[in-house]
Amino acid sequence: MLMSPYQITVLVVTLILISGCVYGDDHHRSTDRASAGVYSKAKLKQSITEDAAYWNQIGQQLLLNELAKKRINSQAKNIILFLGDGMSISTVTAARIYKGQKAGKMGEEEELYFDRFPYAALSKTYCTDIQVADSACTATAYLCGIKTDVVTLGLDANVEYKNCTTQMDPTIQVDSVMTWAQAGNKATGIVTTTRVTHATPAGAYAHSANRDWEDDYAQSFDGVDSNTCDDIAEQLFLNSPGKNLKVILGGGRAYLTPTTMKDPETNEAGRRRDGKYLIGQWVTDHPNGKYVTTRDELINLNVSESDFLLGLFSPSHMEYFLESRGANNPTLEEMTRTAIQMLQKDANGYVLLVEGGRIDQAHHDGRAKLALEEAFQFDLAVAIALNLTNPADTLIIVTADHSHTLSINGYPERGNDILGLVGYAASDLKPYTTLSYANGPGYINSFDGAERLDLTNIDTTSDSFLQPAMVPLATESHGGDDVAIFALGPQAHLFQGVYEQHYIAHVMGYAACIGPGFTFCNDPANLPQTTSLPPSSSSRIGLDLTFTLSLWSITPYYNKDTDRIIV
Ligand SMILES: *[C@@H]1O[C@H](CO)[C@@H](O)[C@H](O)[C@H]1NC(C)=O
Ligand SMILES: *[C@@H]1O[C@H](CO)[C@@H](O)[C@H](O)[C@H]1NC(C)=O
Ligand SMILES: *[C@@H]1O[C@H](CO)[C@@H](O)[C@H](O)[C@H]1NC(C)=O
Ligand SMILES: [Zn+2]
Repeated sequence: MLMSPYQITVLVVTLILISGCVYGDDHHRSTDRASAGVYSKAKLKQSITEDAAYWNQIGQQLLLNELAKKRINSQAKNIILFLGDGMSISTVTAARIYKGQKAGKMGEEEELYFDRFPYAALSKTYCTDIQVADSACTATAYLCGIKTDVVTLGLDANVEYKNCTTQMDPTIQVDSVMTWAQAGNKATGIVTTTRVTHATPAGAYAHSANRDWEDDYAQSFDGVDSNTCDDIAEQLFLNSPGKNLKVILGGGRAYLTPTTMKDPETNEAGRRRDGKYLIGQWVTDHPNGKYVTTRDELINLNVSESDFLLGLFSPSHMEYFLESRGANNPTLEEMTRTAIQMLQKDANGYVLLVEGGRIDQAHHDGRAKLALEEAFQFDLAVAIALNLTNPADTLIIVTADHSHTLSINGYPERGNDILGLVGYAASDLKPYTTLSYANGPGYINSFDGAERLDLTNIDTTSDSFLQPAMVPLATESHGGDDVAIFALGPQAHLFQGVYEQHYIAHVMGYAACIGPGFTFCNDPANLPQTTSLPPSSSSRIGLDLTFTLSLWSITPYYNKDTDRIIV
């Protein structure tokens, strides 16, 4: 029997209405996370009294806080850049709810530590040749201050992918904020949950025409000889600024170890075909350094007894937090704590990069729960940094390199398990999850033949569940939407707007007075005598600044209203 368009519309509307009843309040599933989001409407109404007085009180408090907020317009002695790899804004929101629900709250009202930072902005993450970026070109942006081609590191857009001639060309190579910091006599460090040779940390020290060239073995697949073309591991341990880093913590021992040696934890052979044992090389090159491979060694370290610290806790990436039982891994918080304590010994300050590197990888795997737990761990690392530092002298920036395709959707009730089902069915009468991906391996949980898979009896909150995805991809992709920047401390107010991502490096240089750019220390607006300068005094910028600006073809002008040079 054929139906008219009107009849079809009536049927669809009826189905949608029925589905609301069928999959209404009683459709929630209980979880092992005791109080996480199992509310019926009635129960919800009893448990909260969020009336006008409640919201007005919060609104007024927020307003007063904002009115009392003061810029910290001084030089940053220290900078800590927290990079949540792939930590999209939806990941931040979902991680906040996950954190709240872990603590037995409804979740939405929870705050991550960096939610409380006084300044926030958006970062445009595209790279020179790609709309949806990767971690290599974006690391080059926020660490070196330039956008470049996807999959390449520490080189400008004159790089030719996989062409080592361009990699070794000094006119194409660019310095990172770590090189600037070392030139400015500051201590430097990197902390990550991935291999220390992976794209994000490599952005701090490497020049590579291919981010995958982490060791000579990887290069051999492209017919590249590491004797004539340094792989990323060699650059970390043999070149500047890598070999000067005071702290290196993460995973990736196999990439630093020859095939003739076995891993102390897994007993698996190393990967290097060139016979180089770069860990041994580091130990030889750093007589006052300490090399550790376990959590116990790290947390029992007496930081005053060594000048350098290398901690490598896994042959490859460190295990996901939720899968790390038995691995004797430190948490990101523990690594961050030790890194800061090591670097704080330096009277002239430091620059530290801390990466929550596996938020991204869990998303690629389609495993939102693992990603949220990695983001939660990342937030704890931010918390320990807040405890160990003073906002008067330490600029802390929290951002992401690029987005992912995670979506928070449907109309789940307040307090509904962020990992659960929405509570109302779709128009096919089947329930669906609040979290889903636009693409990725979770496609297997989307369709069952021609129909959508029925998730009714599937535990969507389990560690192994793959959130449904619309397009089948072996690995879920990055997203092209903007990511957030949160900032606290000296010059944090330079983040309030929508910026190109590479601006972050320029702010770090300015704030800490490092690097070749315009800095707080050569900004005439900050020199006491300039307040009496006449408006036409741009010639008094000083030689260094004029030189620097001319390098970048920037024309400064003097703004008499703000009494500062505008470039
Ligand atoms: C690599 O780049 C150099 C410099 O641009 C160029 O001369 C050379 O032909 C390139 N090599 C290959 C294999 O494309
Ligand atoms: C750490 O080492 C220093 C210098 O050797 C020593 O004075 C201090 O007591 C040690 N601290 C601990 C907790 O062992
Ligand atoms: C930070 O310090 C406060 C106050 O001393 C303490 O309550 C909190 O647990 C600390 N947080 C971390 C992550 O150590
Ligand atoms: Zn990724």
